Amino acid sequence: MKRRPTPTNTEVTFSEHEFIVSKTDLKGRITYGNRVFMRVSGYQEDELIGSPHNIVRHPDMPRGAFKHLWDTIQQGKEWFGFVKNMGKSGHYYWVFANVTPDIEAGRIVGYFSVRRQAPRKAIEAVTPLYAEMLRIEREAGAARACEASLAWLTERLRALGTTYEALILSLYQEA
Ligand SMILES: Cc1cc2nc3c(=O)[nH]c(=O)nc-3n(C[C@H](O)[C@H](O)[C@H](O)COP(=O)(O)O)c2cc1C
Repeated sequence: MKRRPTPTNTEVTFSEHEFIVSKTDLKGRITYGNRVFMRVSGYQEDELIGSPHNIVRHPDMPRGAFKHLWDTIQQGKEWFGFVKNMGKSGHYYWVFANVTPDIEAGRIVGYFSVRRQAPRKAIEAVTPLYAEMLRIEREAGAARACEASLAWLTERLRALGTTYEALILSLYQEA
């Protein structure tokens, strides 16, 4: 297993005209990454291809967010979300991700992710939500982490009178 970088407070951004694109197999192993992905993450192509996509996982991200992602795409649906990623030098970069199943002859054969620049206001809105989910996950312990943080998120969204998809898309469009 590769050594993980130590997270730093350095942010790397990309332009509103750029897209970070990657493709994975069914298990989330990277099979393709575009130039923007390489530049922003700091990894070269040979470091990315064949690696699990958690190579760019940032420890500030709650596990529940990825459970939600996988549950959605494995059902053949697309997932939208804001994700804080970590690059090779420990820097971070926020993205607005759209992950979709790659379907051939009616069967899921892999997944695509296309990421755009995340609006500042959206980052400010999701940062406290993720921090609370992370706190709940630590308190719940590994076995119950995702269940506990997703239950909290569901309740929170209900209290706000919204759904996950509606909140995420409004945060993206409002900015
Ligand atoms: C197409 C695709 C793109 C993904 N992109 C990311 C990403 O940019 N950052 C990330 O942390 N996880 C991403 N994931 C999720 C990872 O596969 C993984 O579930 C997540 O990093 C949590 O890893 P862990 O459970 O090993 O901590 C992606 C998954 C798929 C299928």
